[in-house]
This record gives sequence, C-alpha cells and structure tokens, in this order.
Amino acid sequence: MNQVPDIRICPDAASVQQMAAEWIVALARERIAATNHFGMVLAGGSTPQGLYRRLAAAPFVDQIAWEQVHILWGDERYVSADDPQSNYRMACDTLLTHVSIPSEQIYPVPTSFADPVRAASVYEVQVQSLLEQGRGQLDLVLLGMGPDGHTASLFPHHPALNSPENRLVVAIDQAPKPPPRRISLTFAAINQAAHVLFLVTGADKREALRAVLSGAADPQQWPAQTVRPHNGSVTWMVDSATGLGET
Ligand code: 6PG
Repeated sequence: MNQVPDIRICPDAASVQQMAAEWIVALARERIAATNHFGMVLAGGSTPQGLYRRLAAAPFVDQIAWEQVHILWGDERYVSADDPQSNYRMACDTLLTHVSIPSEQIYPVPTSFADPVRAASVYEVQVQSLLEQGRGQLDLVLLGMGPDGHTASLFPHHPALNSPENRLVVAIDQAPKPPPRRISLTFAAINQAAHVLFLVTGADKREALRAVLSGAADPQQWPAQTVRPHNGSVTWMVDSATGLGET
C-alpha cells in the first residue's frame, strides 16, 4: 500500500493520548467485530504511558472486548520483568493489570536467557504465531520515536538495521539509549502491520520528525523512515511542540 501517512497534530501530549485512545478503541472494535481477534504491539518509552492509562479507565476500558486482544511488544529492554526500565512492567502497571486479557494472550519478550540472541529466536516464534493468527498481519503496531529518529530499538547506523528480510526479531547490543541490551522487532516484522500508529511528543523530536516525514531518504540516519507497511497504513499523532504544522 505504502500510502501517504495520516498526520494529526494536537495541542499537547494529553490530547495526543486522548485521540490515540479513541482511535484504538474504534479500530479494535472494528477488527474484533470482523475477526474476533485484535493483535496489538505495544511501544515502550514514556510517551504511550498516558495512552495506556486512558485505555485502562472509563470510558474506554468498557469499550473493548479485551478477551479477544493479544499483546506483543515492539521492543524490550534486556532487564528483568520487574525492573523499573522494563517495557513489560510499564505496560502491566498502566494497562494490563487493569483489563481482562487472558494471560496466555500476553506475550512478553523473554529476558531471562543469558544470551539475548536466544531470546530473540524464542520471541520470533511468538511473533510468527501472532502473524498467522492475524492472517499474515499484525492489526496494530504502536511506535514511538526518539530524537535521533530511532523507533522500537532500531537505532541510527546500527547493524540491526540491516537484518535479513526473514528475521522478525533481533537482539540489540550497544544501543545508544540505555539500557544498551535490547530486543526489537525488525522492520520486516513492523512492516507486516495493518496499521502503524506513531505517538510523538516534545520539542526534542522536531528535527527527527521533519527529517522522517519530509526529509531526503536516509534510513540509516533516520530509521523511522523505514516504517512503510507493505499492505497497511501509517498514522502519526504528534503534539504542537514537535513543530509540525508550523510554516
Ligand atoms: C524504548 C522504546 C523507544 C521509545 C522511543 C521514544 O523502549 O525505549 O520503545 O523506541 O519508543 O525512544 O521514547 P519516549 O516516548 O520516552 O520519548
């Protein structure tokens, strides 16, 4: 599909979270009505936390048939599940312990193997399985973006950007954003999404947002440029601090 992205500019981060919650509820309801299944890939970082809290509270919490929802992570920091840096822990605290998703439909990235490469292989099987349940697609991939243009844990000029097309998950070392060891979906996996939703807020993302959305193609420098689902859409919800919409 590779269509032009849908870009929505909100006055502040709270309105981004509100708009995203409404949008996700509508999408989840549509997909569950059509297929009895909604596969959602969560983002880490700080930006989605307010979104997750909104989804876990009235009025949104009662608008999704959570029993039909399956949860994966787009990336995980290679720390234990109870570490304050864990994206799994953040999602549990803000969303997952407040909704009725069956525990066997929540697929955290394993972080207990001594070798993260082994963890990536194990997680790849989970991602493949969710892709099969979604008839080859992930219903929704939520992403954030760093000020350097990274998304998930795919960082500028990192060898993981050149993962083979048949790899869905990759182990990351030496990430410039702490912690250095991470696990990430590859772009090959992300681009199987039916819908990608980027949430980006804050003035520190200005340069990257401009480069990713309207700069010259340079995906090694600006990895988020590589998010182009083969058969899906990309929506950006950003706040005005990012400078988008300014002339
Ligand atoms: C992570 C991420 C990462 C994040 C961006 C934006 O685990 O660190 O998933 O890709 O989404 O760095 O982070 P903020 O929302 O905190 O700016």
